[in-house]
Amino acid sequence: MDIKKVAVIGGGTMGNGIAHVFAMNRIPVNLIETKQEFADKAMATIDKNLERMVSKEKISAEDKVTTLDSINATLSIAEGVKDVDLIVEAVPENFDIKKSVWEAVEANAQDHAIFASNTSSISITKLAALTGRPEKFIGMHFFNPVPVMKLVEIVRGLETDDETYNVVEKTSKLLAKVPVPVNDFPGFVSNRVLMPMINEAIFCVHEGVATPENVDEVMKLGMAHPMGPLRLADFIGLDVCLDILNVLYEGFKDPKYRPAPLLVKMVDAGKLGNKTGEGFYNYK
Ligand code: CAA
Repeated sequence: MDIKKVAVIGGGTMGNGIAHVFAMNRIPVNLIETKQEFADKAMATIDKNLERMVSKEKISAEDKVTTLDSINATLSIAEGVKDVDLIVEAVPENFDIKKSVWEAVEANAQDHAIFASNTSSISITKLAALTGRPEKFIGMHFFNPVPVMKLVEIVRGLETDDETYNVVEKTSKLLAKVPVPVNDFPGFVSNRVLMPMINEAIFCVHEGVATPENVDEVMKLGMAHPMGPLRLADFIGLDVCLDILNVLYEGFKDPKYRPAPLLVKMVDAGKLGNKTGEGFYNYK
């Protein structure tokens, strides 16, 4: 099966990036949001990121117009999923929100459509069980900024079949991404390895081993990371980091994943990183 058209549900940081890469690679997208202002914001972000690519001569001005023209923003899940071959869900990491989205998708999608979630922490097997087609349910985990990062972590749930995996792997390559298969365990591979590093960096700050700037400098200059772990935590969102650490902690029942108390305190204070203007760094 070839994927000729997709629906992306959610136009936030990840969703608008996912819509951007499908459309830029000539796969038309229905981008589904809950409110017109969110849909407008998603389209404005895609426009801005495409313009950045035009100014760096990565794509032509014509490519930008064609890409924007092939994204159709809609506020209706029923309308947005009825004529597509693949649905990629990128709504907030809250099981109840995802449950209501997948129930609406299930009621309106074509029988052959593949269901993919961009979740970074919720079990693919558990989401798949909300639908009547767990064998066609899979994780397509993209990385921020989606137009730049090469990886798609493809997460196989307990019942995901080979055909679904093969179609999603092939589609990821069409997006000029590198698909890497992993099985469904808490945090998959990416966050199981990344989040303990971020958490340990926060413990270093908490214990006064070094300032955030100096922790980041060590990891950038000593380990060639493009961003230090604390700058990256701000970029991902401290609330998202905390949620993922809790999923690892509860999923494995292993104290090595316990979230640093300083992380919990910063989230309680509403200092969530770039999106609120303050985290380990000030962005105001
Ligand atoms: N859309 C299109 N292009 C973009 C972009 C966007 N949103 N953001 C950046 N770019 C492009 C820039 O145009 C630039 O292109 P050139 O190399 O051709 O000049 C390139 O990306 C680098 O951007 P900048 O020069 O502005 O900035 P930089 O060199 O500091 O790189 C960065 C920025 C790409 C974000 C880099 O710092 C980086 O790779 N950081 C690590 C990001 C990371 O680890 N992401 C994963 C987070 S985890 C996650 O997403 C999943 C999860 O489950 C938590």
